[in-house]
Amino acid sequence: MQKNLNTNPSANPSTNLNTTAPTPSSNSEQSAINAIRASFLHFIEDPAQLDNAQEAYQYIEDGLMVIENGKIKSLQAFEQKNADLCESVEDQRGKLIMPGFIDTHIHYPQTEMIAAYGAQLLEWLETYTFPTEKQFSDKEYAQKISEFFIHELLKNGTTSALVFGTVHPESVDALFEEAQKIDMRLIAGKVMMDRNAPDYLLDTAQSSYDQSKVLIEKWHNKGRLQYAITPRFAPTSTAEQLQFAGQLKAEYPDVYVQTHLSENIDEINWVKSLFPERAGYFDVYQHYGLTGNKSIFAHSIHLTENEWQAMSETDSVIAFCPTSNLFLGSGLFDLEKADKNNIRVGLATDVGGGTSFSQLQSLSEAYKIMQLQGKKLSVFKGLYLATLGSARSLSLDHKIGNFVTGKEADFVALNWAATDLQKLRLKNSNNLQDKLFALMMLGDERNVEATYVAGKLVYSAV
Ligand code: GUN
Ligand code: ZN
Repeated sequence: MQKNLNTNPSANPSTNLNTTAPTPSSNSEQSAINAIRASFLHFIEDPAQLDNAQEAYQYIEDGLMVIENGKIKSLQAFEQKNADLCESVEDQRGKLIMPGFIDTHIHYPQTEMIAAYGAQLLEWLETYTFPTEKQFSDKEYAQKISEFFIHELLKNGTTSALVFGTVHPESVDALFEEAQKIDMRLIAGKVMMDRNAPDYLLDTAQSSYDQSKVLIEKWHNKGRLQYAITPRFAPTSTAEQLQFAGQLKAEYPDVYVQTHLSENIDEINWVKSLFPERAGYFDVYQHYGLTGNKSIFAHSIHLTENEWQAMSETDSVIAFCPTSNLFLGSGLFDLEKADKNNIRVGLATDVGGGTSFSQLQSLSEAYKIMQLQGKKLSVFKGLYLATLGSARSLSLDHKIGNFVTGKEADFVALNWAATDLQKLRLKNSNNLQDKLFALMMLGDERNVEATYVAGKLVYSAV
């Protein structure tokens, strides 16, 4: 374990750039690029909402993106560039640059227990998850895992995420402190959990309210950091705690809410028995004022018709977690149904229930989930989901998600063919859609050449 922990990044600066800088402003000038030449792909619209998916994206085979003060200044064909820009152009021809991937649901304390064998949700939580999360009462431990976690996100081309801490407030401090070092856009929250978990992981309704409030005041909108009120899921909160969570949301309406919903059949039946007075699982959250346009519900697989409708009416958001849903045997999420109901959906890994940090891997499994339902996931819809779609799901599309002028310059440089198999697969492919599809199905962290946050290089594979 120690060997893998990124405790001394300076020992290998070539693979871990800038992650230990004490403040964003101290990042070296050297890594602040002005202009970059490469192929560019980004989305302007949801391909599923247009008759012609080609109108949803912009692809520039030989493009030039100019960055100023960490924001996108322009993106255009290289041949149209202004002559005065020529001197400082970083040449990445042959690479594909996309907006940084956005992960809309992930548990950083579960990083070390990814791929735990043989259990579905409730048994998995008890056997593996809770004992692992116990360690985060130790701030130093939380710092080590935070450092590893953020490096792992960047290594996979993920530049923003909505993240669960543990019940310990110091777990959230540690994560935010680490993200702050590179000025990363991150949303996180302290888990609220006052029943149905081991004593060592329980807070109380009152202490969860007090501690969350302190964290909101300390971190929400501090630079690019934001806070999410985080009741783990209905079964681990008393009615009193959910009431307090709703009160916090009423006091800080701009703050996010993140939780889990209808992931597993046994879980749903448990919620029914714990809250018999409520119409269903989603109604528990709605009753306590926890739904709305900044509320992100992970999974949402087994919704009733009434719940689809209620999610739509409240403009609540779903985090689609393909690798987790398959790994934990939870079920097949119906993305088309969410679209039909006009519900915003973000893409998520849900590590440690999920089995990869790579959003390319999430999309590969998402495609198979749709296939098992006799449905399709086009590569354009997939890559939209990993970028602009997820930005929209987090109400952050005015800041991130594509390369429109003025947006924050978070992006990833991808190698089209990082493996021998990918090279063979692409040998006779000149069609953009086919090349992207091969990348979506076969790609992972090996395809990530470099990752940039706010215009600065924060990870490089070479
Ligand atoms: N439901 C409640 N807690 C969790 C968790 O940590 N992971 C997943 N996948 N589902 C949950
Ligand atoms: Zn989760």
